[in-house]
Amino acid sequence: MKALILSGGKGTRLRPLTHTIAKQLVPIAGKPILGYVLGHVADAGIKKTGIIISPETGPEVRSYVGEGNRWGFQVKYLIQKKPLGLAHAVLTAKSFLGNDDFVMYLGDNLLSHGIKDAIERFKKSRPAAMIFLKEVSDPRRFGVARLDESGRVVQLVEKPAHPPSNLALVGVYLFSKRIFDAIAAIKPSGRGELEITDAIQELLNMGLKVESEKVSGWWLDTGKKDDLLEANTTVLDSYVATDIRGSVDSQSQISGRVAIEENTSITNSKLRGPVRIGSHSVIENSFIGPFTSIGDYVTVRDSAIEHSVVLNNSVIEGIERLEDSILGRGSKVLRNETRHNALRLMISDDSIVEV
Ligand code: TTP
Repeated sequence: MKALILSGGKGTRLRPLTHTIAKQLVPIAGKPILGYVLGHVADAGIKKTGIIISPETGPEVRSYVGEGNRWGFQVKYLIQKKPLGLAHAVLTAKSFLGNDDFVMYLGDNLLSHGIKDAIERFKKSRPAAMIFLKEVSDPRRFGVARLDESGRVVQLVEKPAHPPSNLALVGVYLFSKRIFDAIAAIKPSGRGELEITDAIQELLNMGLKVESEKVSGWWLDTGKKDDLLEANTTVLDSYVATDIRGSVDSQSQISGRVAIEENTSITNSKLRGPVRIGSHSVIENSFIGPFTSIGDYVTVRDSAIEHSVVLNNSVIEGIERLEDSILGRGSKVLRNETRHNALRLMISDDSIVEV
């Protein structure tokens, strides 16, 4: 069994963040999303991992993953020149995958449970493919499966305007080499992509066995801003334990689960967990509320923040209340102290400012 991790793509829905950072490398509770994915692959005992990268963000992904030593597997980088779809990514990996079974894991998906047990079940029953489903409130954003009364998959459609069920395809798939026959038989969709849902539908048309399982626990697809904030909330809630390595002065109060990394100082502030603060940061005269992740080398002064993600090297000063926000690396949000009542902005392409 090999693993194929998809870490290419455009990430248009997460602009402007993705102008300068690969979507899969956005940190959630201090760790890149891809780090959680690779952790699951390692836990399943997989030793050969291919990572699909794009020419634009590939170098950054390479510098994070390196040769994979941290996870105990070998990494082969596979450059997909254009993001022409998930099935196209599988084709790009054809010579790496050979005749082996493989797990395909989308590098921007987060799951509470790993993939070890599912792989065991796949090895026992040997279907052509195994897919994972989760009930969602708006299936139109996802690949959607229709099952018959006995629970067998009978139809798969990508982002349907009229979904045949509320069962979305989770971003983890197990395949045998038969998937290549199916991909050879499909054409690009209306949006110009080779869709993996069409390829799996083709396996069904070929009369091959496609098994499905509903995932227990949470599944998060971090495609858009609100998804990312939800992922941050869920991951902080699930994983953050109190661990204070920085310094906290006697004027500060900490409640709930709060993790503070080394060389960070908390002065005259209130922190209410779950919260995670990186290293070399300064928090002064501030309130950091639940579900907030703060990176390294960040300064927060005279401000209140809640339910937000703040990446490295950012500065927030004199802000009465900042909520539901994502700040990219090196951002500054400052109070304007002059009497002249105006906003002064220097923002990148595709930024969003809500006043
Ligand atoms: P998507 O979220 O479907 O696509 P995207 O990353 O291009 O984002 P957007 O729609 O906002 O422009 O991709 C799911 C995952 O698969 C993500 O980790 C990127 C990866 N991917 C590839 O590696 N190659 C591809 O051709 C595509 C479409 C996605």
